[in-house]
Amino acid sequence: MDKLIIKGGRQLKGSVRISGAKNAVLPIMAATILCPGDHRIDNVPSLRDVSTMGRLLEHIGYDVEADGSCAVIRSNGQNVTDAPYELVKTMRASVVVLGPLLARYGRARVSLPGGCAIGARPINMHLMALEKMGAKITLEEGYVVAEAKRLKGADIMFDIPTVTGTENVLMAASIADGVTRIENAAREPEVIDLADALVSMGAKIEGAGEGIITVEGVEGLKPLDYSVIPDRIEAGTFMAAVAMTKGDVILENCRVDHLDSIVDKLRSSGVEFSDEKEGLRVKMNRRPLSQNIRTMPYPGFPTDMQAQLMALMSIAEGTSVITESIFENRFMHVAEIKRFGADITIEGSTATIRGVRSLKGAPVMATDLRASASLVIGGLGAVGETTIDRIYHLDRGYESIETKLTALGADINRSKG
Ligand code: EPZ
Repeated sequence: MDKLIIKGGRQLKGSVRISGAKNAVLPIMAATILCPGDHRIDNVPSLRDVSTMGRLLEHIGYDVEADGSCAVIRSNGQNVTDAPYELVKTMRASVVVLGPLLARYGRARVSLPGGCAIGARPINMHLMALEKMGAKITLEEGYVVAEAKRLKGADIMFDIPTVTGTENVLMAASIADGVTRIENAAREPEVIDLADALVSMGAKIEGAGEGIITVEGVEGLKPLDYSVIPDRIEAGTFMAAVAMTKGDVILENCRVDHLDSIVDKLRSSGVEFSDEKEGLRVKMNRRPLSQNIRTMPYPGFPTDMQAQLMALMSIAEGTSVITESIFENRFMHVAEIKRFGADITIEGSTATIRGVRSLKGAPVMATDLRASASLVIGGLGAVGETTIDRIYHLDRGYESIETKLTALGADINRSKG
């Protein structure tokens, strides 16, 4: 297994281009199932999860050609409506093929994603919504089997906002018969990006990004030609890395309007931001100030940035309290960050971080995607050498992170294991 080796203490300086958003490109790739023809998606990041989604589409009956940051997806006439466990178990986001398969072909058999390191990750709300739209859903040997002659528009109310649940319904409702109204819809920028992509295919969607979304089903859609938004979590991760190393970096191609809650917290901890013509400049020349953080659905502070901010707060002046309110087990990184010498205690869904002057490099192990990012941040700021094992987690969601960090002056190398 590949490892990362980091010699800490180097200030990050220069500029870095933010790649396309993983959590936008995955549902947008799934949306190509909704209609035949040749689809083109630009600003596609080169990530393990993107190639997994590509393999899943190929399994279903699409030829997927990646050419740099562009993906061309064309149907090859097979219409397999199965998403097998072998593929789904490596990427939970595969669940977003359920809605489009069912809407397009009237049938879908998708492996239940199973849990992951951060929680049980049920999909009951996805299934409730599709049943309301007329689907007959059974669970057979670990698979969701869904059937519907033609889905009907329905009024859907989610108990809590679900990102991929909202996305499944948006795609299914786009070619259902009648109007679908989603209440308590997820408002993440990635949901808006999917809605914009569907509208560019001819879907009729109002209200994406607000709590209530209305979709008027149409007979058919046209092939996609769309460019994906930049990845706000990659941008936030680099901001935390710059703050940890007292650096000065310009983030090119990032959507500042997607980053309000992250910028607010970092600014309160002493990070300086300024809009330059090349992009957003992020500067830090002091020890961060402690912060209290509660993760919330967008536009609140994102759970996908919780681990990264915890790494930064471990050297803050003062005591920080971080409450994880989205997932039930998203503190797997705490034990690893403590190996750097951080002083963190957990009480249920709340972590208390008493800032220490500095971290010391150590061998650590990644447990999930964003946890691995927090260990990179810790290693960049720690005195001495850090080795991070199981970095396949990192490769799922960060495009060439060590190349980008090296270009900013970090001493970071990948050892092929
Ligand atoms: C999406 O996951 C993201 N993944 C996650 O990013 C992100 O952490 C999460 O949204 C929250 O923002 C993608 O977009 C591919 P949810 P998703 O449904 O859709 C519960 C990353 O690091 N729930 O919004 O699976 C669920 O257990 C990943 O890039 C149900 O109970 O998350 C959680 O507690 C990690 N029943 C809460 O809702 C359901 O049917 C929010 O989950 C669905 C969800």
